[in-house]
Amino acid sequence: MTAGPASAAGGPAPPEDLFAGLTFREAQPADAAAIAGAIDTWWPARHIVHGVCPQLLEHMGDTCLLVEKDGILLAFLVGYMSQRLPNAGYIHYAGVRPAYRGRGLGREMYRRFAELTRARGRDRLVAETGLWNTASLAFHMRLGFTLEPGDIVVDGVPGRRDVIGVGCDYATMVLRLDEGAL
Ligand SMILES: CC(C)(COP(=O)(O)OP(=O)(O)OC[C@H]1O[C@@H](n2cnc3c(N)ncnc32)[C@H](O)[C@@H]1OP(=O)(O)O)[C@@H](O)C(=O)NCCC(=O)NCCS
Repeated sequence: MTAGPASAAGGPAPPEDLFAGLTFREAQPADAAAIAGAIDTWWPARHIVHGVCPQLLEHMGDTCLLVEKDGILLAFLVGYMSQRLPNAGYIHYAGVRPAYRGRGLGREMYRRFAELTRARGRDRLVAETGLWNTASLAFHMRLGFTLEPGDIVVDGVPGRRDVIGVGCDYATMVLRLDEGAL
């Protein structure tokens, strides 16, 4: 496999044939049901209160990513430009169908979202994940995110209590989009 061309300001793009046959596209309001279904079934066993609806995708779907093969949803990233944090692209949810994990799809979606964020003049990504979601924490750390301070610490990981509902304690993570990041 040969490496793809360097991306605008980040690290090298992945080999061009790595994702052969996959379609990457932005989200439309009608995609909300498939994404909500994936959030319900792809996450580790724990109830998630999710917040993906057609209206969100109507107004912010142009910075979201869906990855499909033959019309089947394989992965998605719901992200948008934060209004409260004018330098940040915010990742609300990102998931990869279990059978397709470990192939670089998660990294590739974050790389593409980083390009979208840079193109809008912003210099960092902000993501959140459940303190119980050790796989997600490891994934984000591997991509270079760092943990923000919080009001609690669980197993050495700082986070905030009850972020998306009682008992849903979350960590906030930041990645500066310096040259070479992602
Ligand atoms: C987290 C998730 C999106 C990762 O997707 P993925 O396609 O498997 O990740 P990738 O294959 O792109 O991995 C990227 C890097 O992270 C590392 N990584 C991924 N999962 C990891 C894990 N569980 N533990 C340690 N490292 C991990 C990979 O080794 C890889 O490193 P490299 O690129 O330097 O070789 C996927 O596991 C998932 O959908 N989980 C359930 C939903 C979820 O928790 N989403 C995140 C919170 S919103």
